[in-house]
Amino acid sequence: MKLWGGRFKEEVDYLMNQFNSSLPFDKRLFPHDIKASIAHVTMLCEVDILSNEEKDKIVYGLKEIKEEVDNGELKIEGDYEDIHSFIELNLIEKIGPVGKKVHTARSRNDQVAVAMKLFAKEETINLIERLNNLKDALKIFGDENNIIMAGYTHLQRAQTVTLKYHMMAYFEMFKRDIKRLENSVDILNESPLGCCALAGTTYSIDRDFTARNLGFNKKVDNFLDGISDRDYIIELISAFSIIMMHLSRLSEEIIMWSSQEFKFITLDDKYSTGSSIMPQKKNPDGAELIRGKTGRVYGSLMSILTTMKALPLAYNKDMQEDKEQFFDALDTVSNCVVIMTSMIKTMKVNEKNIKDSVKMGFLNATEVADYLVNKGISFRDAHEISGNIVLYCEEKNIPIEKLSIGEFKNFNVKFEEDIYDFIDYEESLKKGIKKEILQG
Ligand code: ARG
Repeated sequence: MKLWGGRFKEEVDYLMNQFNSSLPFDKRLFPHDIKASIAHVTMLCEVDILSNEEKDKIVYGLKEIKEEVDNGELKIEGDYEDIHSFIELNLIEKIGPVGKKVHTARSRNDQVAVAMKLFAKEETINLIERLNNLKDALKIFGDENNIIMAGYTHLQRAQTVTLKYHMMAYFEMFKRDIKRLENSVDILNESPLGCCALAGTTYSIDRDFTARNLGFNKKVDNFLDGISDRDYIIELISAFSIIMMHLSRLSEEIIMWSSQEFKFITLDDKYSTGSSIMPQKKNPDGAELIRGKTGRVYGSLMSILTTMKALPLAYNKDMQEDKEQFFDALDTVSNCVVIMTSMIKTMKVNEKNIKDSVKMGFLNATEVADYLVNKGISFRDAHEISGNIVLYCEEKNIPIEKLSIGEFKNFNVKFEEDIYDFIDYEESLKKGIKKEILQG
């Protein structure tokens, strides 16, 4: 069942036939190919290449095939080279020889390019919606948990922040991710339909018509580029990779925070698993899997970048390799966003441990230095004095705020009673631009 038997004497080898077929995976492009085919024949009729009657028959046939696939009567399987062959051959079987006219002024090269772009657009919009749900979940979680917490650098306790502010950092990352996806859609939004195999066609077809009809901003400017451009797939998978990197960083924190060492959060049972040998174990598998699957999406990015490298213009069969990578990366990132959203919505916060995290670790040492700066000491000298205080407290195993005023004064005479208020963890968040942290 081939669309191109004419110049061949021999059947294709059995293994080669399987090797060549993309139907098992490109069947996902079915609705998009039907849609583009309907737009194509509608245009062919507009420019008088097909009669009204022919167009109606073909559109009817395509819609019937869609209906039959949707209701399960027709299965997308069998010895077809790809989804495009499947649709065309089934169309001919259904409506007879007039079906053979569907491929006038079209090639599978522009056909696959347009179907893939329609698919990519639709799925990216779905992903943006999922990311918006994740952003909402982070915001709600933050509003419900506006509690003081240690902020870290180098995984060492550094300065006071709030749990809400910490989570809102991820909110910002996902906000940028959405912009990246929107921008990718904006760039890909040009129709390749009508570029044909590589060099357009001798027919005066109307590419603006199909571009408009399919919801593209415009038609592509160059036929060769139109059928061989896979930039948008690379760009989207690279945006997916950045999303995964963000999800993986958040996962890593969730994994740490749910450990006995931190005990900041408790994951819901629904997103944890147990151990087959250690009865006490509750493992953060959801977060670990997201962290792990990040590598898989990066792999897809490397794969498609490498496939496209050094391909001469225009279409080469190598490009068929874009599909499995794109579908897998898309499914992975979409699932990870959904799982992360549910995990955030259901995890419980151990407020006491989070609040306690600010107490040990000298998180107010910078405020001690700031205090001295306010009293006229240079920041570098104040830094040194505060460092000496930390050393002293470390030896005595007490936090800075537990020093007596006499001890403070031993380090510098400028210390007064108001130092305690100044270095209070909650109070310090009300000063200067740190107010932004409290406001979240
Ligand atoms: N299945 C092919 C792909 O995914 C469709 C294009 C085939 N074109 C061709 N000239 N063989 O790339």
